[in-house]
Amino acid sequence: MNTPTVGILVSGLIYSGIKNNRSYLEEVGFYEEACRQYGLSPCIFRIKDISLETGQINALVKGVMGKYELKVITIPKVIHNRGLYFRKDLKIKLKNLQKLGVIIFNDRNRYGKWDVQEILMKNEELRPHLPETKRASSLNFTEMLKKHKQLMIKPNSGSLGSGVVMVEKRDSELWEVYYNQRREAFANDWPEIIRKKVSNKNYIIQERIQLAQFQGNPFDLRVSVQKNGLGEWQVTGVVGKVAKKGNYVTNAAKGGTCKTLTELLSNYSDWDFNAVYQSIEDLSIKAVSELNKYFPNLADVGLDIGLTNEGFPMFIECNGRAFRILFEKAQMYDVWKATYTTPISYARYLIDSKIDED
Ligand SMILES: Nc1ncnc2c1ncn2[C@@H]1O[C@H](COP(=O)(O)OP(=O)(O)O)[C@@H](O)[C@H]1O
Ligand SMILES: [Mg+2]
Repeated sequence: MNTPTVGILVSGLIYSGIKNNRSYLEEVGFYEEACRQYGLSPCIFRIKDISLETGQINALVKGVMGKYELKVITIPKVIHNRGLYFRKDLKIKLKNLQKLGVIIFNDRNRYGKWDVQEILMKNEELRPHLPETKRASSLNFTEMLKKHKQLMIKPNSGSLGSGVVMVEKRDSELWEVYYNQRREAFANDWPEIIRKKVSNKNYIIQERIQLAQFQGNPFDLRVSVQKNGLGEWQVTGVVGKVAKKGNYVTNAAKGGTCKTLTELLSNYSDWDFNAVYQSIEDLSIKAVSELNKYFPNLADVGLDIGLTNEGFPMFIECNGRAFRILFEKAQMYDVWKATYTTPISYARYLIDSKIDED
């Protein structure tokens, strides 16, 4: 029997790393192991390596010497997308590939925070878990200042924690804005940073959740939610991200550190760990199921979820191409590996259930 091929579509940077036998951000060895486990053989390529005309790709496949070699092969029927595409022609190329019957899961992997918020708000059960959010505008900012003690102003589209500003109420007429490790007090006359951000259509204004803390620094969670070998959503793992001292964003790119949930909750001895974990899982599965209605090929996301001081989970963000490395940073090696194995098991499920034998 033939071993079906599964495609891993990656960006140029990751591709060159693999080609030179240096894994960069993607641990290809884990894909290989998972493929062995599920009777598949992996091939790795970029979008430009696909030829719609010939139905073939020039892909990296493991040769007999255990090194990756370039080989022209038929386009695999199932592809796991791990690349990011901003160019219209590349998006169209993916669409055309899908029209040929190729299943590309996580085809789209960048979601505007505003769109996600609007979709999730439609679900009554999810609403209590969503911080109030508005599009950036002076009017909305004024209104939000009146309603909340702390606000976040952030870019609508993925930013690794860059460009995120925090605003905090000091007293009835005085606020303070935090950005780039600086702070500035203001009253009616808004500082330039505020004026710039609130007039930028690509920003949103959000109520800041009072995040639970670890050693005095706020933390939130990255939840890996993936479709598994049964074609069902599962939470593959949860890792905590703690903000650097004095910071209000937890992103690793902004000096945040990764820790296990057990470690982070050790100070909250009055919380029921299992109940908190269950509520994180429930929120995550509910949120992705809702998003899946609008993004049909969604299969592998990383959610940012905050916990309030009461241990109540709040939805912050959905990342379509989440860094799995956060689990490695927290030394959660089994989960780290599982974030690679699960999408491959899903590919196996797709091949078995959705692809007709030739
Ligand atoms: N509403 C919020 N309440 C509390 N913290 C927030 C909120 N929004 C963002 N943050 C913090 O800022 C970080 C970055 O924001 P996020 O929305 O994840 O954008 P990105 O990661 O794309 O920059 C989050 O991980 C979280 O630590
Ligand atoms: Mg984030």
